[in-house]
Amino acid sequence: MPKPPLIVQLSDIHIGGSEDGKDPMPRVEAVIEAVRSLPNAPDAVLVSGDLTDHGTAKEYEVIRAMLGRLELPLYVLPGNHDDRGRLRATFDLPGEGEEPIRYSVDVGELRVVLLDSNVPGRDPGAYDDERLSWLDAELAAEPERPTLLAVHHTPLATGILEWDAINLEVRDREALGAVVARHPQLRAIVGGHLHRVAVSALGGCPVLSAPSAYLQVRPNFERDEVTWIDPPGFAIHALRDGELTSQVESVPFT
Ligand SMILES: [Fe+2]
Ligand SMILES: [Fe+2]
Repeated sequence: MPKPPLIVQLSDIHIGGSEDGKDPMPRVEAVIEAVRSLPNAPDAVLVSGDLTDHGTAKEYEVIRAMLGRLELPLYVLPGNHDDRGRLRATFDLPGEGEEPIRYSVDVGELRVVLLDSNVPGRDPGAYDDERLSWLDAELAAEPERPTLLAVHHTPLATGILEWDAINLEVRDREALGAVVARHPQLRAIVGGHLHRVAVSALGGCPVLSAPSAYLQVRPNFERDEVTWIDPPGFAIHALRDGELTSQVESVPFT
């Protein structure tokens, strides 16, 4: 049986971070080894933002070397903790300097559209008219091709008010949903930022928040309080007969 196009998604790696004194390095090492040990070689790695905690040159050097060990094409997006210019230079991404990072790639039959959802200097993301126009045109260019949309700020509500407040405004989510609804070739929207696996739908399209390759949060639905917990994890996206399946793997870590 031929192997379908397989994409591994790593998110929220946070090199240089120290949430609750927990070091990203051994966790990300474990994730990289888990990806290298998969029974089927992935075709590409999607990295959906927050590669570093502070966006320093040193942090980018570290993560570039670690991801390089996968020896796979890397399709990278910035998160709110990243420095666009440094990220772009490190991974040789399209565009110039501090411009938003957005582009599309083909992984076998699957098209992946990567959209920068960041507002420099702020934690919450945005889907404003300018970026939605770009997305609308990008999707209109290939209406027949099964497509995955990748972002950092996953467009779903967690029901945890403080967590949603650092993600997206409701109106931005709805505006994105209106564009998504016009493009039925979209099979899924995948993102990160929430450090928690969560699913929803937007504009008739499934939405998945991938796990962090560093730490997950255990949220409190009543109070502004989150607990950072292991284990790290990653997502796998596979396209078989035009259908996309998205799955999540936890990586044992003690
Ligand atoms: Fe993050
Ligand atoms: Fe983030």
